[in-house]
Amino acid sequence: MLSSENGVLELDLRLGATDVTIDGTTVRMLSYNGSVPGPTLHVRPGDSLRIHLHNGLDEPTNLHTHGLVVSAVGNSDNPFLRIAPGETFDYEIDLPDDHPAGVCWYHPHHHGMVADQLFAGLYGAIIVDEDDWATVPPRVVVVSDVTVVDGQVAGVSGVERMLGRTGQTLLTNGQVTPALRAPAGGRERLLVVNACSSRYLDLELAGLDAQLRGRDSVRLAQPRSTQRVVLTPGNRADLVITVPSSPVELTAAAYDRGQAGMGMMGGQSAVSPEATVLSIVPDAEAPASVVADASTTPRPDLRVAAVDATRTLTMTMGGMGGGGGMRFLIDGRAFDPNRVDQTVRVGTVEEWTIVNQSPMNHPFHLHIWPMQVVRGADSEVQTVDVRDVVDVPARQSVTVRISFDRFPGNTLYHCHILDHEDLGMMGVIQAR
Ligand code: C2O
Ligand code: CU
Ligand code: CU
Repeated sequence: MLSSENGVLELDLRLGATDVTIDGTTVRMLSYNGSVPGPTLHVRPGDSLRIHLHNGLDEPTNLHTHGLVVSAVGNSDNPFLRIAPGETFDYEIDLPDDHPAGVCWYHPHHHGMVADQLFAGLYGAIIVDEDDWATVPPRVVVVSDVTVVDGQVAGVSGVERMLGRTGQTLLTNGQVTPALRAPAGGRERLLVVNACSSRYLDLELAGLDAQLRGRDSVRLAQPRSTQRVVLTPGNRADLVITVPSSPVELTAAAYDRGQAGMGMMGGQSAVSPEATVLSIVPDAEAPASVVADASTTPRPDLRVAAVDATRTLTMTMGGMGGGGGMRFLIDGRAFDPNRVDQTVRVGTVEEWTIVNQSPMNHPFHLHIWPMQVVRGADSEVQTVDVRDVVDVPARQSVTVRISFDRFPGNTLYHCHILDHEDLGMMGVIQAR
């Protein structure tokens, strides 16, 4: 964990191949600074994040600070950059003073290679927090998955890419089912990041007296008791749980994310299998954590905002792409970095309906501007529900409102099943 000092967090991030140990075996992965996940970055609203990214890979990469509400141009959170092998790039990402407190993360975003690079080990957490962590910091829980064959990260088939790859091994902070030890009855704050490329995490929280305090980069106005939280790829949760008096496992239930029902993928279903995230072990000797009250700057509720424009985006799959594979499209088009697909005005609020005409779920992600979900598959949303990745279930639609209050420039929206993004399910948005 690296924390900012005097308003600045400056660090080197070195990408390269690294041997890590998973469940007693040595695995060659890719890493930031030699660890999987990479270092946790702890910053505060108003801070400047200065990252010297050294590309030690043999292919291009770049860096995306997923969830940060920051500019996407120049050397800020610019997903169009290409950092060549051997090159160093100096990012400067300035968080506004009113940046929400929340859980964010970073990963590569070079189109065509995102799923491969992430699956190989390139991800890390960014925590934006105003709380004082002097006593015990929260537990950062970065969940990912990987498939290992002969000490290497396995390659994937065309069909796996189309379904969205699921790793055979679930990793929590790079380990298989690590134990969280804490005194029984104590409160623990878990900041959970779903860094899997395609796997949904349907977290089963019954028996843990759990409270949801925030989602993605935004805290809830009021913490809410919860028995279940579904995190799509890219989603995060800020949770407080109570340590029970006997050991329990925190598990993710199997989650059906639909089917690729045609042609060569005939009837193959995409299920995220059941998995164990953590074992929670009561231990009177372990340090007790201190869970501070969540401080929250209330957000404007966009349900009552005046809407300046509406638009509909439609996600489809089908047909045959160039290589004979399935095509993944938004509004009938595959990603082209040189084409602007949506133009919005800075200072406006828009209502977007995201339509999924395919038989598989697609988690829709928009960079830098949080989305407030106002209508789900069949009902109005009754709370302020802000996310930056919104699941759009198979053959359904979801309506969100977005305040384009700042940040002129170009950035991206896409499916956060990163194989689908690499296959073209992404578009360019320009704010002006
Ligand atoms: Cu985490 Cu454009 O994504
Ligand atoms: Cu993002
Ligand atoms: Cu998708």
